[in-house]
Amino acid sequence: MRLSQLELRDFRNYVREEVEPGPGMNIFSGDNGQGKSNLLEAAAWLAVGRSPRRAREADAVRHGASGFLVRAVGQGLAGRMVREMSFRSEGGRRLTQDGKCLRQVRDLLGGMRVVHFSPDDLFLVGGGPERRRRFLDLMIAQVSVGYVGALTAYHRFLLQRNALLKEIRQHRRPVSVLAALEEGMAREGARVTAERARVLEAAGKLAETAYRQVSGGREELGISYAPSAADEEALRVGLERRRGEELARGTSLVGPHRDEVRITLNGRPARLYGSQGQMRSAALSLRLAERRWMCERTGEEPVMLLDDLSSELDPGRRGAILRLLAGTAQVFLTCTDPGELPREPEEARYFRVEEGTVHRER
Ligand SMILES: Nc1ncnc2c1ncn2[C@@H]1O[C@H](COP(=O)(O)OP(=O)(O)OP(=O)(O)O)[C@@H](O)[C@H]1O
Ligand SMILES: [Mg+2]
Repeated sequence: MRLSQLELRDFRNYVREEVEPGPGMNIFSGDNGQGKSNLLEAAAWLAVGRSPRRAREADAVRHGASGFLVRAVGQGLAGRMVREMSFRSEGGRRLTQDGKCLRQVRDLLGGMRVVHFSPDDLFLVGGGPERRRRFLDLMIAQVSVGYVGALTAYHRFLLQRNALLKEIRQHRRPVSVLAALEEGMAREGARVTAERARVLEAAGKLAETAYRQVSGGREELGISYAPSAADEEALRVGLERRRGEELARGTSLVGPHRDEVRITLNGRPARLYGSQGQMRSAALSLRLAERRWMCERTGEEPVMLLDDLSSELDPGRRGAILRLLAGTAQVFLTCTDPGELPREPEEARYFRVEEGTVHRER
């Protein structure tokens, strides 16, 4: 997957800009607050249908404008495609591919695939478990329609069950109303957990290998899945066994929404013992694993969007990451100073970002 054009109109601090990235490494440099992250956000939003920083469309409309448009021309296995996202304060959002409306998450699949790394990914390692679940969910969702279906169904059951738990506590409903819901929850929940565990088995190994390379073999990353219930039967039993506690707290305590991805560095929890640079290296390794995994699953390289790659990483690690990225993928990389990249990547295209404009330098 490659983007040959990216156009932004009234998106964040861009009035109107068109960028023509090259097929390999594209380096966007500029001072703070000039629009580097905004550019990558636009590309990622277009690909997955939501903002990587979880912004609402209205937040991304340039101050004073009444809507925005983001458009990309891509070249993938399926040929050339044009994807467009527009938003108007009155009228809402419209996402299209080759003129056809993309309404649901599943319509987005198989189009533009990207892997987005941002400074915020530090929380992938150092933050709460929901961040790691979301990472896995979004990664699998980019390649599997079935998974999106199971996840959506599970969350619907979960919301209903949590509402019922509160009503039962207030004696407005009998406990027996839970039975049918829990059947569905156990079935869909087990599908979600099984798929996550299977994917993490493969992607975790890829991340561990990437980390070994990034750290020059000095540290070991460990990734494992810790489900709150291992299979459908365990989930059904768990729901029943903890019902008393759940009724008291008014919320469901077992199921994939409580699963955890464990990340260790040299055998210790990375969240508690990792340095900033080590946690960033681990987060980047997960993103590199996401890329390799998607590539293996789909036969196609996703576009790598790497925001602020070099902060907190020593030159050795920066170099290792650039070496890992060299090759066939298209990469968008942002930095404040291209001089901080260890060895100028060959055949890179350089752009300067200044107050919402992008100039090609060489
Ligand atoms: N809706 C909006 N309208 C206008 N400007 C906006 C909007 N949203 C964000 N901005 C501005 O866009 C600017 C650029 O932000 P961006 O995050 O892309 O900077 P950056 O080049 O990545 O900087 P840094 O090096 O600090 O990460 C900021 O000054 C921000 O205030
Ligand atoms: Mg930025």
